[in-house]
Amino acid sequence: MSTRKGIILAGGSGTRLFPVTMGISKQLLPVYDKPMIYYPLSALMLADIREIAIITTPEDQTQFQRLLGDGSQWGLRFNWITQASPDGLAQAYLLAEDFLAGSPSLMVLGDNIFFGHGLPEMLARADAQTVGGAVFGYRVADPERYGVVDFDADGQVRAIIEKPQVPPSNYAVTGLYCLDGTAPQKARRITPSARGELEITTLLELYLSEGTLSVQTMGRGYAWLDTGTHESLLDAGNFVRTLEARQGLQMGSPDEIAYAKAWIDKAAMQERAELYAKNAYGAYLSSLIG
Ligand code: DAU
Repeated sequence: MSTRKGIILAGGSGTRLFPVTMGISKQLLPVYDKPMIYYPLSALMLADIREIAIITTPEDQTQFQRLLGDGSQWGLRFNWITQASPDGLAQAYLLAEDFLAGSPSLMVLGDNIFFGHGLPEMLARADAQTVGGAVFGYRVADPERYGVVDFDADGQVRAIIEKPQVPPSNYAVTGLYCLDGTAPQKARRITPSARGELEITTLLELYLSEGTLSVQTMGRGYAWLDTGTHESLLDAGNFVRTLEARQGLQMGSPDEIAYAKAWIDKAAMQERAELYAKNAYGAYLSSLIG
């Protein structure tokens, strides 16, 4: 098991989908057949991480707790943290400082979906890097929507720029941040950007200036989907539906991963299957028990 602790950032913002005032937390919306947050949670589980802080808005916390509980149903331990306002991704490290207690971490954004053969191995490679940070670059058609990697002529990373008007490359930085135990201390040195946020890209730049940031490119065999707009939310749902229907396998099921890793036993899995007895998910879980 990894000694890294996990963070899921599932707070406010994401207002391009619904205004915060609508009272809907987007990470609880379904992406096809399961709540959005199951997918990033699954990514942390595939990285062998069992101790996870979940950061939500104060208003949404009880809803997330109702859905996810204390994590014991999956052999996990959840720690609940609130973020009063969406003041930036890097703020997560300040809020989670006590939880991390000097440990390295893997943070995932609550609206990011990863899929691909070799994902656990890729995460294990990032985990093995004990000093500095590792992030993942993924080729996209619309880099201006993301943090973008600027490579020099030798392919070395020169800078990471948040939502550049003229993107220096097509490589977006995905919402998975594998950082060492100095992240909270570095986050304290950051001041708010022009848009008033503690930018994750500024935190990454601090690692970059120390020469300890690695950017691994996630090849085209992976799918990295985000759900920041109505269109991309529907696209993600269709992707999950297409794959699941074709393979007869679930994507992003915390129950399946917990059982495969023997974090829960047969009886616990049976209980989970019974909870969903009336739908296809329950039948799927039953089929895994054999
Ligand atoms: O998806 C990857 C991208 O995520 C990166 O390429 C960018 O560098 C990074 O800044 C971020 O960009 P977004 O524009 O997607 O960030 P957004 O404000 O939409 O927030 C992403 C998720 O994090 C979203 O589910 C809401 C949550 N969030 C965001 C902020 C700013 C929080 O929980 N708290 C916050 O303070």
